[in-house]
Amino acid sequence: MKASNTDQAHTLNKVTEVYYDSPEADNFYFNIWGGEDIHIGLYEETQDISQASRATVAHMANAIPTLSADTKLIDLGSGYGGAARYLANQFDCNVVCLNLSDVQNETNRRLNLEQKLDKLVSVVHGSFENIPEPANKFDVVWSQDAILHSNNREQVIAEAWRILKPGGVMIYTDPMQADNCPPDVLQPVLDRIHLDSLGSFSSYKDMADKCRFSGYQKEDMTHNLRIHYSRVLEELERNFESMCTISSRDYIERMMVGLQHWIDAAKSDHLAWGTIKLTKP
Ligand SMILES: C[S@@+](CC[C@H](N)C(=O)[O-])C[C@H]1O[C@@H](n2cnc3c(N)ncnc32)[C@H](O)[C@@H]1O
Repeated sequence: MKASNTDQAHTLNKVTEVYYDSPEADNFYFNIWGGEDIHIGLYEETQDISQASRATVAHMANAIPTLSADTKLIDLGSGYGGAARYLANQFDCNVVCLNLSDVQNETNRRLNLEQKLDKLVSVVHGSFENIPEPANKFDVVWSQDAILHSNNREQVIAEAWRILKPGGVMIYTDPMQADNCPPDVLQPVLDRIHLDSLGSFSSYKDMADKCRFSGYQKEDMTHNLRIHYSRVLEELERNFESMCTISSRDYIERMMVGLQHWIDAAKSDHLAWGTIKLTKP
């Protein structure tokens, strides 16, 4: 019997949850990828992964001039909550972190308490394909490098539309395939984190149109993708022995191979990355 789309979505979500909840992934992402931020950084002014990653958050925040203490924002696939704490700190806004990994959510809650931001930042376990929030609640839907994990991205964009107030904004980044990427060249890239496919700037534009979002704005910042994965691989190589003591050698070696596939695909211009901003009329 063929699995239904819903069954496939549940299966992929389970695989992703198990992936991020594993101690090996948790150690790798928290110690090597960028600390509280596990997305691609902006490398115009630094080669430091954490600083570059934080620059992406600041850059996205600058694109929303209305952020203030009155703003209700939800971060879809919020990881350890680095962006949420930055936004709560800078703008006093209310942030809901929605994330599938409870291991990351526990770290997120601990850091919120330690930084006395737990009144502004709340953490919810769940999937962005079925957001446990009422319609028309949020001013901003935010997401960084998370929607790639869905095999029903149109549903994620539709959910964002549903929970946004009229006039609300969705802003997100995502590692994507280039619009002119040849078919079947990305399998090694997809395998690293158990993906079925990648979105693209043009597929997200189609989804935005279908959901009746207006004012699709993209900022193509793809050149940072190769730099980011190269920097992560360098750090992993530099810390190889110590990382093998907290994650298994097998995991670290497989991760190094996986990262190299992303670097090679970026060098071949098969990947894309940047921000997309949409408005609900
Ligand atoms: C590369 S990490 C990015 C984390 C965070 N946005 C950041 O930039 O630091 C991808 C995140 O997406 C989350 N995720 C994957 N699938 C999800 C889903 N269906 N619903 C909610 N979160 C999901 C993972 O748990 C993980 O935290």
